[in-house]
Amino acid sequence: MALTGPEVAHRAQSVRVAGRDVLVYSAANADEVMDRAIERNEPAPYGAVVWSSAWALAYRLEGFAGPGPIVDVGAGCGLFSLAAAACGHEVIALDICPVSRALLRAAAADQGLVVDVREFDITGDAPLPPGQLYTFADVLYEQAMVGPVGRRIAEAVMNGTVWVAEPDRTFRALFDDDLRARGLATAPTRVAVPHGDDAGTVLVYTWERA
Ligand SMILES: C[S@@+](CC[C@H](N)C(=O)[O-])C[C@H]1O[C@@H](n2cnc3c(N)ncnc32)[C@H](O)[C@@H]1O
Repeated sequence: MALTGPEVAHRAQSVRVAGRDVLVYSAANADEVMDRAIERNEPAPYGAVVWSSAWALAYRLEGFAGPGPIVDVGAGCGLFSLAAAACGHEVIALDICPVSRALLRAAAADQGLVVDVREFDITGDAPLPPGQLYTFADVLYEQAMVGPVGRRIAEAVMNGTVWVAEPDRTFRALFDDDLRARGLATAPTRVAVPHGDDAGTVLVYTWERA
C-alpha cells in the first residue's frame, strides 16, 4: 500500500472498532512532534496520539443510525472519525493542529475512507459546520478550553445531537459549572475503556438536539 503519510514519522495501528477494522496513524515519537511544534510555533500536537475518549465515543457508533454529517470537533489523529467513516457516515473532522490533521488525512486516504478534514479553532468565531451529530473527545485538558467548549456545545445542540467524552480530568468540575450556567447541565455516564495508553474510565455526556 502506498503511504501518503504526513512528514512526521508515524506508526500505523489496526484497531477493531464499531465492528470494523480501522487503520489509525499516530506520531511514532510524541516528543519529536512536540519539539517540532514548538520550533514552528504551532499548536501542541496532543492529538497526534489516540486517547481513550475517542474509543468511548466510537463504541457508540453502532447505535447511531446516521447518515450524518458527524462533526468531530478536536478530532486529533482521528480514531473516532475514521471509525465513523468506515461505518458509512459522512464525517467532517475539525482540528487546530496541522500534525493531527495530516495524520488523519493520510490514514483516511490510505484505506479509501472519506473524511473531510478541516482546520478549525474551537475558540474562534467561525461557526460549526451543519451536522446531525457533534462529538468532542478529550478537548477539556486545559482550563482555558472549558468556556469555549461550553459555548460550542450550546451552538451544536441547536443543530444536532452532541456527545462529549472526558476522562475525568481536573477541569471537569469547572466544565459542569459552565454547563449549569448555560442551562445545559446533564449527568454523564461512565464508560470503561480498556484501550490506549490512558485506558480507564471515561465520562460521556449526551445532549439531544434542542
Ligand atoms: C487530547 S486530544 C484528543 C484528540 C481526539 N479527539 C482523541 O480523543 O483521540 C485534543 C485535541 O483537541 C485539539 N484542539 C485543542 N485546542 C483546539 C482548538 N482551539 N480548536 C480545535 N481543536 C483543538 C488538539 O489539537 C487535539 O487534537
